[in-house]
Amino acid sequence: MSSHRHHSRPAPDPQAAVDFQSWLEQQRGRVESALDHWLPREEEPPQIIHRAMRYSVFAGGKRIRPILCLAAAEAVASEAPGVMEAACALEMVHTYSLIHDDLPALDNDDFRRGRPTCHKQFGEAIAILAGDALLTLAFHVLARAECPAPETRARLVEELSTAAGTPGGMIAGQVEDLEGEGKAPTPELLESIHRAKTGALLTAAVRMGAICGNAPPEPLEALTRYGRHVGLAFQIVDDLLDVEQSTETLGKTAGKDAKQKKITFPAVYGLPASHRMAEQEISAALREIEGFGERARRLREMALLVLHRSR
Ligand code: IPE
Ligand code: IPE
Ligand code: MG
Ligand code: MG
Ligand code: MG
Repeated sequence: MSSHRHHSRPAPDPQAAVDFQSWLEQQRGRVESALDHWLPREEEPPQIIHRAMRYSVFAGGKRIRPILCLAAAEAVASEAPGVMEAACALEMVHTYSLIHDDLPALDNDDFRRGRPTCHKQFGEAIAILAGDALLTLAFHVLARAECPAPETRARLVEELSTAAGTPGGMIAGQVEDLEGEGKAPTPELLESIHRAKTGALLTAAVRMGAICGNAPPEPLEALTRYGRHVGLAFQIVDDLLDVEQSTETLGKTAGKDAKQKKITFPAVYGLPASHRMAEQEISAALREIEGFGERARRLREMALLVLHRSR
């Protein structure tokens, strides 16, 4: 997996690495208890839909989007009311997108987050509806966000709906991804698919955190550029992992992109160049937040996590 990385960087500080791991676990715990608070109880009728929603949300996702949102807030403010609601809304939209991405009509996947996909477990109808319900609940949660200014809530809704929708957002990217199957993989189409299907939501995660922290326009723009670079790197790495990692480690079926003739970075550029491009995107992301100093420490660590993750 790491055979293509052969550049020099300062020796990692083991203490800082331990500290980041424990911070990460702590944030995951915070996000998961907030998600647990907002999701309907399994006992609530109709039970099947609430069981399906919880099955997919609590299957062990990495929580990268909500944690990026929290880290962006931390980079601009010591308090950011509403940021946990924004974080939960992002993870709900993301989980819905995975449930629908796995459906037979889309990528037709049987395995996700280390368990059978939602439609394998509950049937297609309930999986479709569980996705719908998570998408809907995300906007309910934003409506209830404890932002001091009501305009902030409206901005959060605008950010999330634009990033998740079309044109330019996740739905647009998913359509291009499906229509691209079997087509000649051009660099232009590749970048447009990746920026829309994955980059938009990751950028929104960073922006929503910064908005909750009341970021002034200039820092918000710098964080937006950071988010775009991290977002593109995220999907390049996802494509690489599909080729280079095992199904067991990924918790989702490896090797599917080539089988489905998807337009991916490895398909267009090959493995070594794709690794280099992911590294370049992460370096560019780190440059954008140089001016934030120590407050952006977690954003730096998150960018490196996106690059070096093994799943
Ligand atoms: C996978 O996202 C889908 C993509 C957008 C590439 P993640 O790798 O964040 O999946 P989870 O949330 O950890 O399961
Ligand atoms: C999915 O991209 C992006 C979404 C919007 C869900 P992929 O189809 O590559 O995601 P995985 O590899 O199935 O997680
Ligand atoms: Mg897909
Ligand atoms: Mg897929
Ligand atoms: Mg993939």
